[in-house]
Amino acid sequence: GGGSEKGGDDSSSVIISTLPTREGWWAAPLFRLHGCWLTARLARSVELMQAEFKPRPDDVLLATFPKSGTTWLKALAFALINHSRHPLPDRTLRPVAELEAVPSPRLLCTHLPPALLPPGMLMTSSRAVYLCREPKDVFVSYWHHVRTLSHESLVDFDKAFELFCEGVSVCGPVWEHYLEYWKLSKKNPSSSRVLFLKYEEMMAQPAKHVRTLAEFLGVPFTEEEESGGVVEEVVRLCSFQNLKDLAVNTHGVSGQIGAAVANPVKNSLWFRSGKVGLRRLGELPDAGDGTQVGLHRSGETQGVRP
Ligand code: A3P
Repeated sequence: GGGSEKGGDDSSSVIISTLPTREGWWAAPLFRLHGCWLTARLARSVELMQAEFKPRPDDVLLATFPKSGTTWLKALAFALINHSRHPLPDRTLRPVAELEAVPSPRLLCTHLPPALLPPGMLMTSSRAVYLCREPKDVFVSYWHHVRTLSHESLVDFDKAFELFCEGVSVCGPVWEHYLEYWKLSKKNPSSSRVLFLKYEEMMAQPAKHVRTLAEFLGVPFTEEEESGGVVEEVVRLCSFQNLKDLAVNTHGVSGQIGAAVANPVKNSLWFRSGKVGLRRLGELPDAGDGTQVGLHRSGETQGVRP
Protein backbone atom coordinates (compact mmCIF):
# COMPACT_ATOMS: atom_id res chain seq x y z
CA GLY A 1 0.00 0.00 0.00
CA GLY A 2 1.13 3.51 -0.75
CA GLY A 3 3.12 5.03 2.00
CA SER A 4 2.51 2.68 4.88
CA GLU A 5 6.12 1.61 4.97
CA LYS A 6 8.03 3.30 7.72
CA GLY A 7 11.67 3.05 6.72
CA GLY A 8 13.44 0.39 8.78
CA ASP A 9 16.90 -0.93 7.95
CA ASP A 10 16.00 -2.13 4.45
CA SER A 11 18.54 0.21 2.85
CA SER A 12 21.29 -2.17 4.03
CA SER A 13 21.14 -3.99 0.64
CA VAL A 14 24.23 -3.42 -1.48
CA ILE A 15 22.19 -2.56 -4.58
CA ILE A 16 19.91 -0.17 -2.74
CA SER A 17 22.84 1.63 -1.16
CA THR A 18 24.08 2.50 -4.68
CA LEU A 19 20.79 4.06 -5.85
CA PRO A 20 20.27 7.83 -6.18
CA THR A 21 18.39 9.06 -3.15
CA ARG A 22 16.56 12.18 -1.98
CA GLU A 23 14.30 13.46 0.77
CA GLY A 24 10.71 12.29 0.45
CA TRP A 25 7.51 13.34 2.22
CA TRP A 26 8.68 12.15 5.63
CA ALA A 27 11.92 11.29 7.41
CA ALA A 28 12.73 8.12 5.42
CA PRO A 29 14.51 8.89 2.10
CA LEU A 30 13.33 7.71 -1.30
CA PHE A 31 15.52 5.69 -3.69
CA ARG A 32 15.41 5.93 -7.49
CA LEU A 33 15.25 2.64 -9.35
CA HIS A 34 14.62 2.64 -13.15
CA GLY A 35 13.24 6.16 -12.88
CA CYS A 36 10.82 5.30 -10.07
CA TRP A 37 10.98 6.62 -6.49
CA LEU A 38 10.69 3.89 -3.87
CA THR A 39 10.99 3.59 -0.11
CA ALA A 40 13.86 1.41 1.06
CA ARG A 41 11.37 -1.33 1.90
CA LEU A 42 9.78 -1.22 -1.54
CA ALA A 43 13.18 -1.21 -3.24
CA ARG A 44 14.14 -4.27 -1.23
CA SER A 45 10.83 -5.96 -2.16
CA VAL A 46 11.51 -5.24 -5.84
CA GLU A 47 14.93 -6.81 -5.48
CA LEU A 48 13.48 -9.94 -3.89
CA MET A 49 10.59 -10.25 -6.34
CA GLN A 50 12.93 -9.81 -9.33
CA ALA A 51 15.08 -12.65 -7.98
CA GLU A 52 12.44 -15.07 -6.72
CA PHE A 53 8.96 -14.47 -8.08
CA LYS A 54 7.82 -16.95 -10.72
CA PRO A 55 5.09 -15.57 -12.97
CA ARG A 56 2.44 -17.97 -14.25
CA PRO A 57 0.79 -17.64 -17.68
CA ASP A 58 -2.66 -17.27 -16.13
CA ASP A 59 -1.70 -14.68 -13.53
CA VAL A 60 -3.92 -11.62 -13.43
CA LEU A 61 -2.13 -8.48 -12.30
CA LEU A 62 -4.00 -5.49 -10.93
CA ALA A 63 -1.75 -2.46 -11.26
CA THR A 64 -2.29 1.04 -9.95
CA PHE A 65 -0.46 4.10 -8.76
CA PRO A 66 -1.04 4.38 -4.98
CA LYS A 67 -4.41 5.98 -4.11
CA SER A 68 -5.95 5.47 -7.54
CA GLY A 69 -8.70 3.08 -6.51
CA THR A 70 -6.74 -0.14 -5.92
CA THR A 71 -9.16 -1.31 -3.24
CA TRP A 72 -12.12 -0.89 -5.57
CA LEU A 73 -10.38 -2.71 -8.44
CA LYS A 74 -9.36 -5.55 -6.13
CA ALA A 75 -12.92 -6.00 -4.90
CA LEU A 76 -14.35 -5.99 -8.45
CA ALA A 77 -11.77 -8.42 -9.86
CA PHE A 78 -12.13 -10.72 -6.86
CA ALA A 79 -15.91 -10.75 -7.16
CA LEU A 80 -15.76 -11.46 -10.91
CA ILE A 81 -12.96 -14.05 -10.95
CA ASN A 82 -14.38 -16.04 -8.10
CA HIS A 83 -17.82 -15.97 -9.67
CA SER A 84 -18.83 -14.78 -6.26
CA ARG A 85 -21.97 -13.03 -7.30
CA HIS A 86 -22.99 -13.10 -3.67
CA PRO A 87 -21.92 -10.97 -0.69
CA LEU A 88 -18.15 -10.57 -0.50
CA PRO A 89 -16.49 -12.72 2.13
CA ASP A 90 -14.33 -11.07 4.77
CA ARG A 91 -11.10 -12.35 3.29
CA THR A 92 -11.30 -10.03 0.27
CA LEU A 93 -8.97 -7.42 1.66
CA ARG A 94 -6.58 -9.63 3.59
CA PRO A 95 -3.02 -10.16 2.32
CA VAL A 96 -1.84 -13.26 0.49
CA ALA A 97 1.08 -14.48 2.53
CA GLU A 98 2.53 -17.17 0.30
CA LEU A 99 2.32 -16.32 -3.37
CA GLU A 100 3.58 -19.74 -4.41
CA ALA A 101 0.82 -21.45 -2.49
CA VAL A 102 -1.95 -19.49 -4.16
CA PRO A 103 -3.87 -21.66 -6.64
CA SER A 104 -4.16 -20.48 -10.25
CA PRO A 105 -5.42 -18.20 -11.58
CA ARG A 106 -3.73 -15.88 -9.12
CA LEU A 107 -5.01 -12.38 -8.63
CA LEU A 108 -1.98 -10.24 -7.85
CA CYS A 109 -1.73 -6.57 -7.09
CA THR A 110 1.08 -4.06 -7.52
CA HIS A 111 1.91 -0.36 -7.45
CA LEU A 112 5.10 -0.94 -9.42
CA PRO A 113 5.61 0.48 -12.93
CA PRO A 114 6.22 -2.06 -15.76
CA ALA A 115 10.01 -1.59 -15.62
CA LEU A 116 10.11 -2.93 -12.05
CA LEU A 117 7.88 -5.98 -12.51
CA PRO A 118 9.56 -9.36 -12.10
CA PRO A 119 11.03 -10.75 -15.35
CA GLY A 120 8.45 -12.55 -17.46
CA MET A 121 5.44 -10.73 -16.09
CA LEU A 122 3.27 -9.46 -18.94
CA MET A 123 5.59 -11.25 -21.37
CA THR A 124 3.63 -14.46 -21.19
CA SER A 125 -0.12 -14.69 -21.66
CA SER A 126 -0.70 -13.16 -18.26
CA ARG A 127 -3.09 -10.23 -18.16
CA ALA A 128 -3.04 -6.94 -16.31
CA VAL A 129 -5.70 -4.42 -15.46
CA TYR A 130 -4.47 -0.89 -14.88
CA LEU A 131 -6.61 1.69 -13.12
CA CYS A 132 -5.59 5.33 -13.27
CA ARG A 133 -7.11 8.41 -11.65
CA GLU A 134 -6.99 12.20 -11.96
CA PRO A 135 -3.58 13.00 -10.41
CA LYS A 136 -4.93 15.92 -8.34
CA ASP A 137 -7.34 13.53 -6.62
CA VAL A 138 -4.53 10.99 -6.20
CA PHE A 139 -2.42 13.63 -4.52
CA VAL A 140 -5.16 14.71 -2.11
CA SER A 141 -6.03 11.11 -1.31
CA TYR A 142 -2.37 10.30 -0.71
CA TRP A 143 -1.89 13.37 1.44
CA HIS A 144 -4.73 12.28 3.72
CA HIS A 145 -3.39 8.72 3.72
CA VAL A 146 0.08 9.64 4.98
CA ARG A 147 -1.33 12.20 7.39
CA THR A 148 -3.58 9.54 8.91
CA LEU A 149 -0.56 7.29 9.32
CA SER A 150 1.05 10.24 11.14
CA HIS A 151 4.49 9.79 9.65
CA GLU A 152 7.04 11.60 11.74
CA SER A 153 8.40 14.76 10.15
CA LEU A 154 5.80 14.81 7.38
CA VAL A 155 6.41 17.78 5.10
CA ASP A 156 3.64 20.39 4.85
CA PHE A 157 0.89 20.30 2.22
CA ASP A 158 2.58 22.80 -0.13
CA LYS A 159 5.90 20.97 0.00
CA ALA A 160 4.20 17.61 -0.58
CA PHE A 161 2.39 19.09 -3.60
CA GLU A 162 5.64 20.49 -4.97
CA LEU A 163 7.36 17.12 -4.56
CA PHE A 164 4.42 15.31 -6.18
CA CYS A 165 4.58 17.68 -9.17
CA GLU A 166 8.29 16.96 -9.44
CA GLY A 167 7.46 13.26 -9.53
CA VAL A 168 8.81 12.62 -6.05
CA SER A 169 6.33 10.40 -4.22
CA VAL A 170 6.22 6.65 -3.61
CA CYS A 171 6.15 4.98 -7.07
CA GLY A 172 6.29 8.39 -8.77
CA PRO A 173 6.42 10.11 -11.15
CA VAL A 174 2.71 9.51 -11.56
CA TRP A 175 2.64 10.47 -15.26
CA GLU A 176 5.39 7.98 -16.19
CA HIS A 177 3.45 5.29 -14.36
CA TYR A 178 0.28 6.04 -16.34
CA LEU A 179 2.15 6.40 -19.62
CA GLU A 180 4.07 3.13 -19.41
CA TYR A 181 0.94 1.08 -18.75
CA TRP A 182 -0.95 3.09 -21.38
CA LYS A 183 1.71 2.20 -23.96
CA LEU A 184 1.45 -1.48 -23.01
CA SER A 185 -2.33 -1.36 -23.37
CA LYS A 186 -1.95 0.08 -26.88
CA LYS A 187 0.83 -2.26 -27.95
CA ASN A 188 -1.31 -5.08 -29.17
CA PRO A 189 -4.95 -3.95 -29.18
CA SER A 190 -6.27 -7.12 -30.85
CA SER A 191 -5.12 -9.39 -28.02
CA SER A 192 -4.59 -6.72 -25.42
CA ARG A 193 -2.95 -8.02 -22.29
CA VAL A 194 -3.36 -4.73 -20.49
CA LEU A 195 -6.81 -3.29 -19.91
CA PHE A 196 -6.50 0.43 -19.13
CA LEU A 197 -9.31 1.80 -16.97
CA LYS A 198 -10.00 5.27 -15.56
CA TYR A 199 -11.46 5.85 -12.11
CA GLU A 200 -13.64 8.76 -13.25
CA GLU A 201 -15.12 6.80 -16.17
CA MET A 202 -15.82 3.84 -13.91
CA MET A 203 -17.56 6.10 -11.42
CA ALA A 204 -19.69 7.59 -14.22
CA GLN A 205 -20.66 4.25 -15.79
CA PRO A 206 -19.82 1.43 -13.39
CA ALA A 207 -21.99 -1.29 -14.99
CA LYS A 208 -20.45 -0.72 -18.43
CA HIS A 209 -16.93 -1.05 -17.02
CA VAL A 210 -17.75 -4.06 -14.86
CA ARG A 211 -18.93 -5.81 -18.05
CA THR A 212 -15.68 -4.87 -19.81
CA LEU A 213 -13.64 -6.08 -16.85
CA ALA A 214 -15.54 -9.38 -16.67
CA GLU A 215 -14.94 -10.00 -20.37
CA PHE A 216 -11.25 -9.15 -20.08
CA LEU A 217 -10.89 -11.50 -17.11
CA GLY A 218 -12.52 -14.28 -19.13
CA VAL A 219 -15.67 -14.44 -17.04
CA PRO A 220 -18.29 -12.59 -19.10
CA PHE A 221 -21.79 -12.35 -17.70
CA THR A 222 -24.28 -14.82 -19.10
CA GLU A 223 -27.64 -13.64 -20.52
CA GLU A 224 -29.29 -15.06 -17.44
CA GLU A 225 -26.99 -13.08 -15.16
CA GLU A 226 -27.59 -9.94 -17.22
CA SER A 227 -31.36 -10.25 -16.98
CA GLY A 228 -31.11 -11.24 -13.32
CA GLY A 229 -29.43 -7.91 -12.47
CA VAL A 230 -26.12 -9.53 -11.48
CA VAL A 231 -24.05 -6.76 -13.10
CA GLU A 232 -25.76 -4.12 -10.97
CA GLU A 233 -25.38 -6.34 -7.92
CA VAL A 234 -21.59 -6.60 -8.42
CA VAL A 235 -21.47 -2.81 -8.81
CA ARG A 236 -23.42 -2.41 -5.57
CA LEU A 237 -21.37 -4.95 -3.63
CA CYS A 238 -18.11 -3.24 -4.61
CA SER A 239 -19.40 0.30 -4.24
CA PHE A 240 -17.56 2.66 -1.95
CA GLN A 241 -20.40 2.85 0.55
CA ASN A 242 -20.97 -0.89 0.71
CA LEU A 243 -17.27 -1.74 1.19
CA LYS A 244 -16.76 1.10 3.65
CA ASP A 245 -19.64 -0.14 5.83
CA LEU A 246 -18.53 -3.80 5.96
CA ALA A 247 -17.58 -4.76 9.52
CA VAL A 248 -14.17 -5.94 8.30
CA ASN A 249 -13.49 -2.44 7.04
CA THR A 250 -14.97 -0.46 9.91
CA HIS A 251 -13.18 -2.52 12.57
CA GLY A 252 -10.64 -4.79 10.84
CA VAL A 253 -6.89 -4.40 10.35
CA SER A 254 -4.53 -5.80 7.70
CA GLY A 255 -0.85 -6.45 7.28
CA GLN A 256 0.70 -6.24 3.85
CA ILE A 257 3.10 -8.47 1.97
CA GLY A 258 6.63 -7.31 2.59
CA ALA A 259 5.57 -4.53 4.91
CA ALA A 260 4.12 -3.84 8.30
CA VAL A 261 2.75 -7.32 9.04
CA ALA A 262 3.71 -6.73 12.64
CA ASN A 263 2.31 -3.23 12.44
CA PRO A 264 -1.01 -3.59 10.65
CA VAL A 265 -3.08 -0.67 9.39
CA LYS A 266 -6.79 -0.16 9.96
CA ASN A 267 -8.82 -1.22 6.92
CA SER A 268 -10.83 2.00 7.25
CA LEU A 269 -7.73 3.79 5.92
CA TRP A 270 -8.64 2.61 2.41
CA PHE A 271 -12.04 4.33 2.44
CA ARG A 272 -12.12 8.09 2.76
CA SER A 273 -14.63 9.86 0.51
CA GLY A 274 -14.45 7.93 -2.80
CA LYS A 275 -15.46 10.85 -5.02
CA VAL A 276 -14.29 12.54 -8.21
CA GLY A 277 -12.96 16.09 -7.84
CA LEU A 278 -11.47 18.05 -4.99
CA ARG A 279 -14.48 19.66 -3.29
CA ARG A 280 -14.38 17.06 -0.56
CA LEU A 281 -11.12 18.47 0.74
CA GLY A 282 -13.24 20.61 3.03
CA GLU A 283 -11.02 23.64 3.09
CA LEU A 284 -11.58 24.15 -0.65
CA PRO A 285 -14.83 25.95 -1.51
CA ASP A 286 -17.17 24.83 -4.28
CA ALA A 287 -16.78 27.20 -7.22
CA GLY A 288 -20.58 27.35 -7.25
CA ASP A 289 -20.87 27.63 -11.03
CA GLY A 290 -20.74 23.98 -11.99
CA THR A 291 -16.99 23.96 -12.26
CA GLN A 292 -14.90 21.90 -9.91
CA VAL A 293 -12.39 23.44 -7.61
CA GLY A 294 -8.82 22.50 -8.35
CA LEU A 295 -5.51 23.18 -6.72
CA HIS A 296 -3.12 25.88 -7.61
CA ARG A 297 0.56 25.14 -7.23
CA SER A 298 0.70 27.33 -4.14
CA GLY A 299 -2.23 25.47 -2.60
CA GLU A 300 -4.65 28.29 -3.40
CA THR A 301 -7.89 27.35 -5.07
CA GLN A 302 -8.82 27.95 -8.66
CA GLY A 303 -11.74 26.95 -10.82
CA VAL A 304 -10.92 24.32 -13.40
CA ARG A 305 -13.15 22.63 -15.92
CA PRO A 306 -14.16 19.13 -14.87
P1 A3P B 1 -10.22 9.18 -1.57
O1 A3P B 1 -9.10 9.35 -0.59
O2 A3P B 1 -10.23 10.26 -2.63
O3 A3P B 1 -11.54 9.01 -0.91
P2 A3P B 1 -6.32 2.99 -3.06
O4 A3P B 1 -7.30 1.86 -2.83
O5 A3P B 1 -5.55 2.87 -4.34
O6 A3P B 1 -5.49 3.26 -1.87
O7 A3P B 1 -7.21 4.29 -3.31
C1 A3P B 1 -7.96 4.82 -2.27
C2 A3P B 1 -8.97 5.77 -2.85
O8 A3P B 1 -10.03 5.02 -3.46
C3 A3P B 1 -9.61 6.60 -1.75
O9 A3P B 1 -9.95 7.84 -2.38
C4 A3P B 1 -10.82 5.75 -1.41
O10 A3P B 1 -11.83 6.45 -0.72
C5 A3P B 1 -11.26 5.32 -2.81
N1 A3P B 1 -12.08 4.11 -2.81
C6 A3P B 1 -11.98 3.03 -1.99
N2 A3P B 1 -12.92 2.13 -2.30
C7 A3P B 1 -13.63 2.64 -3.33
C8 A3P B 1 -14.76 2.16 -4.07
N3 A3P B 1 -15.31 1.00 -3.81
N4 A3P B 1 -15.23 2.95 -5.05
C9 A3P B 1 -14.68 4.16 -5.33
N5 A3P B 1 -13.62 4.66 -4.64
C10 A3P B 1 -13.10 3.91 -3.66
